Amino acid sequence: MNPHQLAVVTGASSGIGYELARCSVRHGFDLLIAADEPDIHRAAQELRGMNAEVETVEADLATEAGGDALWGAIAGRPVAALLANAGHGLGGACLEQDFAAARHVIDTNITGTLRLIQLVGRDMVARRSGRILITGSIAGFIPGSFSAVYNSTKAFIVSFSHALADEIADSGITVTCLMPGATDTRFFARAGMLDTKVGREEKDDPADVAKIGFDAMMSGERDVVSGWKNKVQTAVASITPASLLAAQHRKKAEPGSGRDE
Ligand SMILES: NC(=O)c1ccc[n+]([C@@H]2O[C@H](COP(=O)([O-])OP(=O)(O)OC[C@H]3O[C@@H](n4cnc5c(N)ncnc54)[C@H](OP(=O)(O)O)[C@@H]3O)[C@@H](O)[C@H]2O)c1
Repeated sequence: MNPHQLAVVTGASSGIGYELARCSVRHGFDLLIAADEPDIHRAAQELRGMNAEVETVEADLATEAGGDALWGAIAGRPVAALLANAGHGLGGACLEQDFAAARHVIDTNITGTLRLIQLVGRDMVARRSGRILITGSIAGFIPGSFSAVYNSTKAFIVSFSHALADEIADSGITVTCLMPGATDTRFFARAGMLDTKVGREEKDDPADVAKIGFDAMMSGERDVVSGWKNKVQTAVASITPASLLAAQHRKKAEPGSGRDE
């Protein structure tokens, strides 16, 4: 493989994105990694320790300015792999959530992801070469009582990813949606969900989840659910009434549901 192929990984400062970046380095990609907080520079230092060329962008990808900063850093170079992973959740009752906080979830998980994929994807199609991995979630199949906005953003991602993959099926570009279940990252703390059942239960290892997603991207699969329990959960969800799914989600995500755990 050309040793100078570039992979762009968003949300690479921690969790699944950091592990996706490690997979990318192991594969031989040079990296451009992005996240909102200065921690991205620490992640870059660690990745450089694996003998990789790593550039960083510290930007809020929920904003157009943040997207511009990342697109500017790509600077017209061909992107061999775009791993659009940045995202975050927000727990609690929807009507009590701060609107700006809820909108930030949408702007990060949907709007920022869409913009980046449009910019990079157009260039990939013009070159007839590239791979796109989008981090969705099994939450995309489940109406998320007490995580309503977040789950809805992932429903968008799952649908969007499949639609895009079909639209550009003849272009030489592959689009893969990684759909993890609950994974042991900063996600639940950041979403204010540490007192919920799902926040407290045992979770998947982000390194395992990332490897499954990375391998699926390299094989050009359209989607992959990480882990057999999550595969069963999505299969069952596909034949379960939405009202029942929402009620089940409440039991795991309602604030305080994890207190007796
Ligand atoms: N953990 C789970 O249970 C789970 C399950 C299914 C899917 N997912 C998805 O997996 C992806 C990664 O999450 P994670 O679990 O690895 O959580 P994480 O450890 O909190 O990592 C999230 C990453 O996204 C970045 N990010 C979030 N908002 C951003 C923004 N507006 N602009 C730029 N960067 C932003 C974070 O950087 P900063 O800290 O700098 O903001 C961080 O690098 C997300 O899309 C999430 O929805 C997670």
